[in-house]
Amino acid sequence: MIKGGRANFGSRMGVILASAGSAVGLGNIWRFPYETGNYGGAAFILIYLGCIFLLGLPIMVAEFVIGRRSQTNTAGAYQRLAPGTHWRWLGRMGVLAGFLILSFYSVVAGWTLEYVMEALGNGFAGKTPDEFIQSFQSFSSNPWKPTIWLVAFLLFAHFIIVKGVEKGIEKSSKILMPLLFVLILVLVGCSVSLPGAKSGIEFLLKPDWSKVDSNVFLGAMGQAFFSLSLGMGCLCTYASYFNKNTNLTRTAFSVGIIDTLIAILAGFIIFPAAFSVGIQPDAGPSLIFITLPNVFQQAFSGAPWLAYIFSVMFYVLLALAALTSTISLHEVATAYLHEEFKLSRKRAAWLVTGSCMFLGVLCSLSLGIGKGLTLFGLNLFDLFDYVTAKIMLPLGGMFISIFVGWYLDKKIVWEEITNNGTLKVGVYRAIVFILKYIAPVAIGVIFINELNLI
Ligand code: TRP
Repeated sequence: MIKGGRANFGSRMGVILASAGSAVGLGNIWRFPYETGNYGGAAFILIYLGCIFLLGLPIMVAEFVIGRRSQTNTAGAYQRLAPGTHWRWLGRMGVLAGFLILSFYSVVAGWTLEYVMEALGNGFAGKTPDEFIQSFQSFSSNPWKPTIWLVAFLLFAHFIIVKGVEKGIEKSSKILMPLLFVLILVLVGCSVSLPGAKSGIEFLLKPDWSKVDSNVFLGAMGQAFFSLSLGMGCLCTYASYFNKNTNLTRTAFSVGIIDTLIAILAGFIIFPAAFSVGIQPDAGPSLIFITLPNVFQQAFSGAPWLAYIFSVMFYVLLALAALTSTISLHEVATAYLHEEFKLSRKRAAWLVTGSCMFLGVLCSLSLGIGKGLTLFGLNLFDLFDYVTAKIMLPLGGMFISIFVGWYLDKKIVWEEITNNGTLKVGVYRAIVFILKYIAPVAIGVIFINELNLI
């Protein structure tokens, strides 16, 4: 639907699906479990939930306000709402974060494609947990295979973006998202009934506060921003395609609930299974790739065809979830280059795809032959992940809340949140209060603690 020369999402459901499609992705199923494992389980999850509801949702509303009001890409948005000020740097930082995230994100998305192929070729059958660990390690450190998958994935995403078949995606996600959800529920059932799963469930439910330090807070906050696609103008860009009747608060709430539910359920697949087969919960980025194949093998040992079907379906759906998130990340940079530098959309998209391929290949190689090359003790892959999720996104979120809470005219904020007074938004005051005081202070305190500034 084109209104006033700018594309619009078709329906209310379309708005929620597109935003949820951006939010739900590898962040929920790959990153959330491994961060939970790194930071010790239940206590991390509780802090994470606090970050989602107290910081994430109000900041999401703030991004929506900026995007829908300005009707343009995230960097242009600040030019329009705050002409001639330095706020434009906030938008530019977001675009840069988008490039960096896209680069390591597509490496992992490429891994999911390899696992789709493995599953299709029945490659998991009869393997032991140790063999799964070994085969992942030799695959991810191979100089060629992951690189080829990453390039293939980015080309695929690119093709969809320039063809503008987002409509197709909007439609197909109406079927695929619920399907993914049902499959996840089935797998939770399988995983919690494995022998020895109980200690995994305890890991998720019994907080061990003795392990909580400032690191855990930064990790949980970073994960909340990453998972909700917040802090770099992604949802701001999407909101520029919302129409004037979209209820911003309700959309934020729906997206937050869907996203959180899927992450928690993913935890209930991974940890019971990991404890059951003796895989360490802090195995890092490889966690889901070494745990999940075991779930398929063990839970369906009596019915190998079920193991086959479920594993193929799961990896296909995971790759698609990664695809919808990738498209949203890509859109931020493409819309920026297209609208600010007057490049054609196609050329802008190529520029984004090309540079992310280059950076992505470097990230991928940094897990194998480039292992020795580190900065601050992190290889390139981990460095991009750390710098974006734990620094750039929360910093972006902090400035977004200051922008909407303090800089932007109160009337604009009110008009956007209540759709010119036509909606009764009970939490309006709470949102504004959080954006003004709570979010900037909380994020600031977590940063200061982490950096040992005091
Ligand atoms: N949220 C997505 C996920 O969980 C990834 C993502 C898409 C993202 N757009 C983003 C992360 C913008 C940070 C910022 O997989």
